[in-house]
Amino acid sequence: MVQVAILGFGVVGSGVAEVLATNESQIERKTDDLVRLKYILDVRDFPESPFADKIVHDFSIIENDPDVSIVVETIGGARAALEFTRRALLAGKSVVTSNKELVAEHGCELLKLAAEQGVSYLFEASVGGGIPIIRPLNQCLAANEIEEITGILNGTTNYILTRMIRAGLSFDVALKEAQQNGYAEQDPTADIEGYDACRKICILASLAFGRHVYPRQVPTEGITGVTLADIAYAESCGRKIKLLGRAIRQADGRVCAYVAPHLVSEENPLSGVEDVFNAIAVRGNAIGDVMFYGRGAGKLPTASAVVADVIDAARHRDAKKRMVWEEGGDDVTTSPDSLK
Ligand code: HSE
Repeated sequence: MVQVAILGFGVVGSGVAEVLATNESQIERKTDDLVRLKYILDVRDFPESPFADKIVHDFSIIENDPDVSIVVETIGGARAALEFTRRALLAGKSVVTSNKELVAEHGCELLKLAAEQGVSYLFEASVGGGIPIIRPLNQCLAANEIEEITGILNGTTNYILTRMIRAGLSFDVALKEAQQNGYAEQDPTADIEGYDACRKICILASLAFGRHVYPRQVPTEGITGVTLADIAYAESCGRKIKLLGRAIRQADGRVCAYVAPHLVSEENPLSGVEDVFNAIAVRGNAIGDVMFYGRGAGKLPTASAVVADVIDAARHRDAKKRMVWEEGGDDVTTSPDSLK
């Protein structure tokens, strides 16, 4: 049996507990093992939750339990999360995270520590929520020299810009609407100032180009300066304003990365990405252009990516099981119910 601990029972942490429980048999089939949640670390108690009996308040219980082999870090930030991640890796446990701030600032150190300990540090959910992008970049596109990555990496700002373009709302009104709909945080600074997109392009650039790109190295401008006059001007030249994160390999081999609002032409598929959706375009020297699109945030989409990493970490103990399916049978039909 593979035993899991979740650090932080917020939106993503509770989504992970839910997906682990709901998709138990699917996960068992994929890992050929039972994957069970043993602890949830949080400062609060959750007496109404079906997972109330898993709550602990002391990280050392998890750290010192040899039966816990995978720790899911969904605390966020780079303080307690960093300390607990280091301690979990040093205790020989794999760590899975959705924490883009931690990966963008400390990914290099934590990956190295994981490798030294012979365990995994996985962060599929740190960029693009539920969209597969980290593993595709690291594995499926591994044969390529990556030339460029351009993405709409923040759902909140894309929602605000969409409402400004489609409904003529001012930035302030669109931001309030995003907060009321639960997309933007009560303190929306990291989204609207572009810091969140910056962290995500740093992670993608570090992975694609093989050396850590730090947020402090990436010029970043958010969308607080975008006005309805800018939107109208963009429209008059057949363009839309989108907040893009870009990372480009220069001819001299150096990496250029930045985040800023762009005028995007209507022929560019990124111009059609609306609301809270994210999209990431990657150009490789063998594959050419490829694009990843989907829900870039939200409880279950993000939990989907976290649990995929849990499955990967569980399988990794036996490399033969990393890709597996069985012989088909009577449960396979070529005629979908919807067409009968
Ligand atoms: N605040 C982020 C966004 C959440 O709006 O995209 C997902 O990282």
